[in-house]
Amino acid sequence: WFRSIEQAPKDPILGVTEAFLADQSPNKVNVGVGAYRDDNGKPVVLECVREAERRIAGNQFMEYLPMGGSIKMVEESLKLAYGDNSEFINDKRIAAVQALSGTGACRLFAAFQQRFHPNTQIYIPVPTWANHHNIWRDSGVPLKTFRYYHPESRGLDFSGLMDDIKNAPDGSFFLLHACAHNPTGVDPSEEQWREISSQMKAKGHFPFFDMAYQGFASGNPERDAKAIRIFLDDGHLLGLAQSYAKNMGLYGQRVGCLSLLCEDEKQAVAVKSQLQLIARPMYSNPPLHGALVVSTVLGDPELKTLWLKEVKVMADRIIGMRATLRENLENLGSPLPWQHITNQIGMFCYSGMTPEQVDRLTNEFHIYMTRNGRISMAGLNTGNVGYVANAINEVTKS
Ligand code: LMR
Repeated sequence: WFRSIEQAPKDPILGVTEAFLADQSPNKVNVGVGAYRDDNGKPVVLECVREAERRIAGNQFMEYLPMGGSIKMVEESLKLAYGDNSEFINDKRIAAVQALSGTGACRLFAAFQQRFHPNTQIYIPVPTWANHHNIWRDSGVPLKTFRYYHPESRGLDFSGLMDDIKNAPDGSFFLLHACAHNPTGVDPSEEQWREISSQMKAKGHFPFFDMAYQGFASGNPERDAKAIRIFLDDGHLLGLAQSYAKNMGLYGQRVGCLSLLCEDEKQAVAVKSQLQLIARPMYSNPPLHGALVVSTVLGDPELKTLWLKEVKVMADRIIGMRATLRENLENLGSPLPWQHITNQIGMFCYSGMTPEQVDRLTNEFHIYMTRNGRISMAGLNTGNVGYVANAINEVTKS
């Protein structure tokens, strides 16, 4: 029966890494996947993580975690997202479980939505992270879209977004990127978030936030949680996916958190029990090591301070690379506008390049990126930014 099975298409993001690895050119550059690199192009393990590992090593059993994961890690995650003194945490209104990073948190939520609200859809922004489509589709939840990005201005299509929120049936589910929108790097301003929140409240929509980059956008996790806090102040019930892949560099550890703010403690207990019931036949219980690292870092004031410093170093390096890339393009005399490179925020620059231009970058210059024109800024460094700017100028000038 395997005979009828055709080879699956390559993943639009992870497939780029495969192609990059197969290229033998010494000039090759990977600005595909969103994974942080230092200025020498090397992956980084944060010092706070190394120190947490030293403290953990040899001190732990390798027992199963509960189905909902590490209670300590979940508690620390909630404080990070909802605020240290959050009334919602104190009132035990949040149902939360450890999840397999951001993807796992989204997937668990999508399965929960499908099970308990089977006739609903999810509205996703255009564009959004490619995997969001797969996650809700494979969970059996139909997808709808709402306007988000404005190609001409390379910024937010705020009026389109507000119209689509207004015109969606009352009580719709909306997927929002809490900060550092992937792939565009375009976030609403604080004022715009307030308007979005109040419009969604008026319509009774349910906001589900994917927060894969807390701390990575501005360098300050509190600031990056602003959108969530605005929605909380407005009295929404909401869902939230958190990931430690980027902001703690724990990519392969697959550690994250799914939380759902309920009306009261009784609801939260029921909801959590159902999330665990979904997790059990999927993966039984989540992995231990990454959760221990996160709870050790966030639970220790000294390590948390070190983490805040290190996440800021990463965010600042990327912000610096934005300025350098733009400057290089302008110095080369590129006739195109490039201010969006520095206006956008987070790991990605949505360059505006066409799939054909991206193909030329790859085929002629060995620069690997997704065909939607997204540049992972983390792949740029002082050694390759001039080369990349020159190549971009070459493929965009005619
Ligand atoms: C990305 O968008 O590049 C990252 O979130 C990695 C991934 O899993 O796609």
